[in-house]
Amino acid sequence: MRLTPEQIVQFERDGYLFFPGLFSPEETRRLTDAVPDLYARREAYNVREKGSDAVRTNFAAHLYSEPFARLARHPRMVQPVEDLFGEKLYMHQFKINGKMAFEGDVWQWHQDYGTWRNDDLMPTERAMNVAIFLDDVNPFNGPLMFIPGSHRKGVVDAKHDLTTTSYPLWTVDHALIAQLVERAGGKQGGIVSPQGPAGSMILFHSCLVHASSSNLSPWNRVSVYLSLCAVSNHIRRFKRPEYIAHRVFDPIECLPDDCLLKDYPVELPWKNGMPGSALVTSLEPIDRHEVAA
Ligand code: SIN
Ligand code: MN
Repeated sequence: MRLTPEQIVQFERDGYLFFPGLFSPEETRRLTDAVPDLYARREAYNVREKGSDAVRTNFAAHLYSEPFARLARHPRMVQPVEDLFGEKLYMHQFKINGKMAFEGDVWQWHQDYGTWRNDDLMPTERAMNVAIFLDDVNPFNGPLMFIPGSHRKGVVDAKHDLTTTSYPLWTVDHALIAQLVERAGGKQGGIVSPQGPAGSMILFHSCLVHASSSNLSPWNRVSVYLSLCAVSNHIRRFKRPEYIAHRVFDPIECLPDDCLLKDYPVELPWKNGMPGSALVTSLEPIDRHEVAA
């Protein structure tokens, strides 16, 4: 899928693009059907909500689940980002966020690149999130909120929040959020919240400031996020386990557009379990070690 010149201008201005209903119900169902089995696993790659058994986020399913391995190579998700960066991409992070009915906790205000820079030593912001909704997203089930244009501020100050939820995040303080929202139009568009049917896709800049509220509704809000990084911009430190921040920088080769509906062969390197090496971490930059890049 190619972006039009108008979409590129819109992306540069707002920091995101929304594609309602881009994937068909049948394509989405192939993915949704695979989620309960993944969430049931007692593995480190399933991070559960604080004080609850509900899965907050499942990492790296593209390495051990066929439908998600195909999604990770889907041209509708990968090609627009390749075009924007003019370079091949690798998968920096792959997650299926639960935001389960009644249980899904907040995601505090943050920029993803803040975490990728501070934790993973990703050199620049040449990385992008592409999300697909696996459930309908409405005002009640904790939709994503964006501050349009906030990506143009570049990297803003952030603090490492280790306590608010079960998942550590570099978060932006509320005074700065208030300023950014005011600058983006205050009550007239200073916060936007793309909502739509399952199968909708959002592409958003790694410096776009975003958050989401908890889900007190009876409706799940499962979404998949591909964090795609330009190959030349690969991370320089393995401070986080490999299931969170990937260490294989091979360029993604897309499958055909119908890959969610046909069983194209895909490799599943973690099909028989995650290797022990995926849990080994280090605070040293990788160029001081011998690692395969
Ligand atoms: C994220 O910001 O990484 C996730 C936010 C959400 O799923 O609501
Ligand atoms: Mn985020």
